[in-house]
Amino acid sequence: MRVPQPRGAVSDTLRRVFARKPHEIGALSERTAELAAGLDGDGDAVLSSEDLQLSLSMLYELHYRGFDGVDPAWEWSPELLAVRRVLERLLESALRAAVTVPDLPASTPSAVAAALTDLTSAETGPSLSAFLARHATADQVREFLIHRSIYHLKEADPHTWAIPRVAGRAKAALVEVQTDEYGGGCVERMHAALFARTLRALDVDDSYGAHMDRVPAVTLATVNAMSLFGLHRRLRGATLGHLAAFEMTSTVPNRRYGNALRRLGHGPDATLFFDEHVEADAVHEQIAAHDMCGALIEEEPHLAADVLFGAAVAIDLERRFAEHVLAAWSAGTTSLRTARPADAGSAA
Ligand SMILES: [Fe+2]
Ligand SMILES: [Fe+2]
Repeated sequence: MRVPQPRGAVSDTLRRVFARKPHEIGALSERTAELAAGLDGDGDAVLSSEDLQLSLSMLYELHYRGFDGVDPAWEWSPELLAVRRVLERLLESALRAAVTVPDLPASTPSAVAAALTDLTSAETGPSLSAFLARHATADQVREFLIHRSIYHLKEADPHTWAIPRVAGRAKAALVEVQTDEYGGGCVERMHAALFARTLRALDVDDSYGAHMDRVPAVTLATVNAMSLFGLHRRLRGATLGHLAAFEMTSTVPNRRYGNALRRLGHGPDATLFFDEHVEADAVHEQIAAHDMCGALIEEEPHLAADVLFGAAVAIDLERRFAEHVLAAWSAGTTSLRTARPADAGSAA
């Protein structure tokens, strides 16, 4: 994928750093760290900061597929890791401020499973999936897919970081879920490949990272939180809790997304990704809540609060995303980024 267009001083400097080789660093990366340290603000400002969320996405992408023409050695550059650390601290404290982790009567598997069920069944605001199923126009459905492409084209990858970080039954359950996410070894069945097929069916560019410049901070934050959890062993409980919340809140919305596409006249090529999730996630939610998180808490009871933190973050960021999209649509405008003088030509 191409390096995204900058959205402020930090992402602009990062883009210039990426154009060089790690042995040429110096002033520019020091400058990036300085600029990153200057980013501040309360939780909501951090979660909606275009410069911060894009910069973090750029740094995280070095650990996934990287960027065309950017030296892969940047991934472990101490200077860029220092910048990442500054931004991650801001993100993590914003997320901790944004959610309330329920108090548990005991750090037991059944208490955690019950709290996960409560968290994921609570009403959390306007339903984007209900709107899509009943009212969305073809263009709005395309917009929705463009937002989601940032995650779904790397679906499952952020949670996979946790596999070597847990053991025993929790690991086995996580691998069981992830095996389905990766199509059980069949490339066409990989969920990321099914999503690409949906994009192609709707004439939307399906190449990895194609829409980075078009999605706002609120969308990037949903993926950045997963990368933050996945890339830190100390946050392995949050990764598993996040995945459990994803699986537990998946069946109903995915059925509606499929219905939205059918209502607009699309066939199985477009709907398979969503239909597959209706089926698979009914099973995954049981494995994730009981086998995976339950076994983790049995092994490491001190991670109970982190599991619920990760789950609460998944739900909170999804709510923010849905509110953003629905607010834009009810104002008659696009939920994607629109071209501005600073980045004209890159954002539609
Ligand atoms: Fe999936
Ligand atoms: Fe799943």
